[in-house]
Amino acid sequence: MRIVLTAVLVLLASQSAFAAKPARLGLCAACHGETGIAQIPGAPHLAGQKADYLREALRQYRDGRRKAPIMQAAIGPVSESDLDELARWYSEQAPVKAQP
Ligand code: HEC
Repeated sequence: MRIVLTAVLVLLASQSAFAAKPARLGLCAACHGETGIAQIPGAPHLAGQKADYLREALRQYRDGRRKAPIMQAAIGPVSESDLDELARWYSEQAPVKAQP
């Protein structure tokens, strides 16, 4: 019983550590990776990009001012605070190292 309790507590603790991740990150990870390293051909790396730039790009996809059907479908009708969380998250990730 005690082991089960400990396991549950450890699980809860590790989940709260993940709470800093944006709620909508799962929608993006398939293509941009959780840490902003692109997972599919044609998707850009986002890690370490400026938060302002990312936020503005996301607004443009959402509002249809930047046309890329794949991103427009992925972003959907998100709120400003969701955009902000996503932009911050990706801007805080370590960027890809330049190829030698
Ligand atoms: C199905 C794959 C896919 C998914 C899912 C996806 N993206 Fe993208 N994303 C792309 C592609 C492809 C581009 C390049 C589109 C273009 O040419 O504008 C892109 C571009 C972007 C850009 C612009 C980057 C730049 O340098 O201008 C941002 C920011 C971005 N995505 C964020 C997100 C976020 C945040 C999510 C989750 C809500 C997400 N993407 C989900 C494929 C995806």
